[in-house]
Amino acid sequence: PGILILNGPNLNLLGTRQPEIYGRTTLGDVEAMCREHATRIGVTVECAQSNHEGALIDAIHGARGRLDGLILNAGAYTHTSIALMDAISSAEIPAIELHLSNVHAREDFRHKSYIARVSVGMICGFGARGYTLAMDAMKSHLKALR
Ligand code: DQA
Repeated sequence: PGILILNGPNLNLLGTRQPEIYGRTTLGDVEAMCREHATRIGVTVECAQSNHEGALIDAIHGARGRLDGLILNAGAYTHTSIALMDAISSAEIPAIELHLSNVHAREDFRHKSYIARVSVGMICGFGARGYTLAMDAMKSHLKALR
């Protein structure tokens, strides 16, 4: 199976951006961890990041009919973007919502998620380890679908 790991706005600054909240692991480290884990569990991954809503939508469209699952940390677009939600519905592949921080332990405006409505489930609060947890969850979800 092929999985798209997509990161949204400000996540390019991972490692240096509010490390007390998001940790010291960089996006490059996260993507390397994901590639390593992919080999371990027998899946393939494509990693992408954009600060632009439209580019994230294009990346989701690009997975349609080509990849089997989407792991998405949409950053703050999680809480605002109906367009991203619609893109996930249109892609017709299962999505897992991901956040490094426990969004439910933070400000109220982070409690609302448009992505959750169109996701299989959500992983949050486990920092960078959440990405490999999400890969395991996606692998087992895809297996259960078969
Ligand atoms: C985040 C949580 C969002 O609320 C925030 O806007 C981010 C990062 C996380 O990974 O914890 O940019 O998605």
